[in-house]
Amino acid sequence: MSKLFTPVDLAAPEGPGLTLRNRTVLAPMCQYSVDNRDGVPHAWHLAHLGARAAGGFGLVFTEAAAVTAQGRISDRDAGIWNDDQSRAWAPIVDFIHSQGAAAGIQLAHAGAKASTHAWLPQPAAAGQVGSLGEEDGGWETAAPSETDVFGLDSPLAMSGEQIAASIRDWAEAARRADEAGFDVVQIHAAHGYLIHQFLSPLANARTDEYGGSFGNRTRYAREVISAVRAAWPAHKPLAIRFSGDDWVDGGWRIQDTARFAAEAFELGVTAFDLSSAGIGKYHGPSGPGFQVPLATAVKQAVPAAFVTAVGMINDPSQAEQVLVTGAADGVSIGRAALKNPNWPAVAAAELGAPREQVPFAAQYWRAHW
Ligand code: FNR
Repeated sequence: MSKLFTPVDLAAPEGPGLTLRNRTVLAPMCQYSVDNRDGVPHAWHLAHLGARAAGGFGLVFTEAAAVTAQGRISDRDAGIWNDDQSRAWAPIVDFIHSQGAAAGIQLAHAGAKASTHAWLPQPAAAGQVGSLGEEDGGWETAAPSETDVFGLDSPLAMSGEQIAASIRDWAEAARRADEAGFDVVQIHAAHGYLIHQFLSPLANARTDEYGGSFGNRTRYAREVISAVRAAWPAHKPLAIRFSGDDWVDGGWRIQDTARFAAEAFELGVTAFDLSSAGIGKYHGPSGPGFQVPLATAVKQAVPAAFVTAVGMINDPSQAEQVLVTGAADGVSIGRAALKNPNWPAVAAAELGAPREQVPFAAQYWRAHW
């Protein structure tokens, strides 16, 4: 009996919550594939996410979907800041559902890390990195503080009014995500993007009520969570992704994440995914399952939540071990699922899950026969 392929419920404030057919989650992964700088997902996003829903994931997350145009990492990011975008997500969500998977959207704002070249070896980008120049359609970025910690053009420090407006953007994006039919919203609070910029002393030098103490640095995140939770239907679970640790003394550390996870849980977040880093040079550990201890620390802080581990969990038996040892409740799979969209179906077969739990699409049943 495989724990990885045992169904699980994600709690919501009202109703029974959401049942996932198994505990494998497709990690959010930017595709940098939008045309016309319009943030509208299209056939690529359907094929990419659809293949992984057919491949057996319990929950399929979209890439980071920007809550405003200004918050895009690059001009090829997908978005959810207008109705054209939510209408374009709807058939993608329908297809994910048709394959037996739940559909999640990661809501994101890149803050100081916006307006950069897309990470694709495309002719247009020609492998360029760093901030987009004005001549390439770059735009002004906004963040808690002016900073050069990212090696990018310095953002403008957000005013109180801009902070309030951006919180409304997150809530509006959640409302549109519901219209598109998504089952889960995940707030992107990781990887040095806007929310993480507020959380971490490495990027937040504010002296007002959004900077300084732990309570002040976490204020923006709390306000985003509350606004999204209010806009997102009470019967649908709310998730968050943290960078559990900056891996730098004086940065945002795992003790901070565990403490804040408990607050987020009180505000209605019931699913947590634990990544790390994203501000400055990488100082952390590496290797198989290197971020699992971060998930375990959060699991201990919020035992009632669904906590997933991510990062170099490539092997089915390794994933199963993470669950069997109680280190986390589920696994998010990134690059291994780029290599093999059927990662869950293959894993289930390898782990000897009962036939009805091996999530090969009906059309592919002979792969397992
Ligand atoms: C990512 N990652 C990522 N993370 C996130 O929170 N939002 C995103 O949009 C993206 N985009 C993205 C694109 C690509 C191409 C990759 C490879 C990664 C990080 C990803 O979700 C995951 O945390 C890491 O890849 C580590 O997990 P794996 O790949 O070792 O399983």
